[in-house]
Amino acid sequence: MRLAPASSVPVAAPARKPWLDHWLDTVNDLAELTASHPMMDAVIDEIDGRMIRIGEHWLADFASCNYLGFDLDREIIEAVPAHLDAWGTHPSWSRLLGSPVLYEQIEERLTALLGAEDSLVLPTITHIHMSVIPLLAASGTIFLDQRAHKTIYDGCQVARSRGAAVRRFRFEDPDHLDELLSAERDPTRLVCMDGVNSMTGNAPDLPAFAAVARKHGALLYVDDAHGFGVIGERTAGETSPFGARGNSVVRHTGETYDNLVLVGGFSKAYSSLLAFIACPTEVKQLLKVAAPPYLYSGPSPVASLATVLAGLDVNETRGDAMRAELWRLTDRVLQALDRIGVHTPNRSGFPIIEIPLRDHRRIAEVGQMLFDRGVYVTLAAYPLVPKHEVGFRLQVTAANTDAEIDTAIEAIEELAARGELCEAGVPPMEQAA
Ligand SMILES: Cc1ncc(COP(=O)(O)O)c(C=O)c1O
Repeated sequence: MRLAPASSVPVAAPARKPWLDHWLDTVNDLAELTASHPMMDAVIDEIDGRMIRIGEHWLADFASCNYLGFDLDREIIEAVPAHLDAWGTHPSWSRLLGSPVLYEQIEERLTALLGAEDSLVLPTITHIHMSVIPLLAASGTIFLDQRAHKTIYDGCQVARSRGAAVRRFRFEDPDHLDELLSAERDPTRLVCMDGVNSMTGNAPDLPAFAAVARKHGALLYVDDAHGFGVIGERTAGETSPFGARGNSVVRHTGETYDNLVLVGGFSKAYSSLLAFIACPTEVKQLLKVAAPPYLYSGPSPVASLATVLAGLDVNETRGDAMRAELWRLTDRVLQALDRIGVHTPNRSGFPIIEIPLRDHRRIAEVGQMLFDRGVYVTLAAYPLVPKHEVGFRLQVTAANTDAEIDTAIEAIEELAARGELCEAGVPPMEQAA
């Protein structure tokens, strides 16, 4: 091989990473906020109940999804060591190779709680969406809720890369879904949507969506990450409008599992790293040979399997009392918003309370003020949400105290007095500064 003379060797352009430039540009607002704001990417030094310490600051935490307070429950904490003694810290077989009997126990109890035909547990909902949606969609057509959670959307993208088509239907609009399904000729149809929405805190009109899906022979796939453990079947003796037993949006809305698969997780209300799909046994058998997380992924740690089992016990004995407390605390915040006249999309009374800002550019200042008042929330910044929905979100848990709720209400009152929040009764888009 002959080398070119040195003078003719082209000078290499300075190394550019076009993909990096693209992403830095796209997430610029969020990156700036993350770099500068104490409420983003925080290091939590210590907790005491639902109070958290970040450096010198103690704050009331409204950013976790530990809705039932199982993370702090003594009965659940004390159930863990015996399981560690029996099983070690981590099974480390993929589920296909071998599963501790704890998995059988969890699936049996979960199936009974949900009133489903069968269930399969895997480490996270993300694992389930990425592997199960492509299997169920095959090379057919997916009808995707326009505001579906990002992880559902990503699962649909994987399905698309394997030959499925994806159509979007308008949020909370079963008539639009009906229109799209009526016009569709593809016989393989999968409808993907959320149960309790992680931003609005509302549940969909599941009976209406299920009826449309069944009418058109479509399978309905519902992610109720935020409903499981919080809402459940309606009974005469229920302790709150959340219903009883926390067995999810399907039972809460009086629906059945006919042509419907339910996905949910233990990582929110049950404070454990595990997720499930409730489905017919036939589908479960397919997933056990075709879903990559069952075949190849590392399993949940034993401590999480233990806290799920202990959580199922506590759910039976004290769960409804905890849900009653969760409802009471959530209602205090919602009543206060009503009294002050501040807008929230929450119509349900469920414990996710999003409060949009009048001016999305004020997110850093508003977040700082909440931080200074000792209130820790989830900041919903652009591009995590559209600009007119930029704001903050409180997730109430049964382990919050009345004093913590008072602190949050006082801070919200102050923000409202300063004109930072949207007025109730006027669509936020019309109030945008
Ligand atoms: C609706 C919804 N689905 C899925 C997930 C992700 O769940 P996991 O952490 O189990 O993957 C979340 C997490 O916030 C969620 O809100």
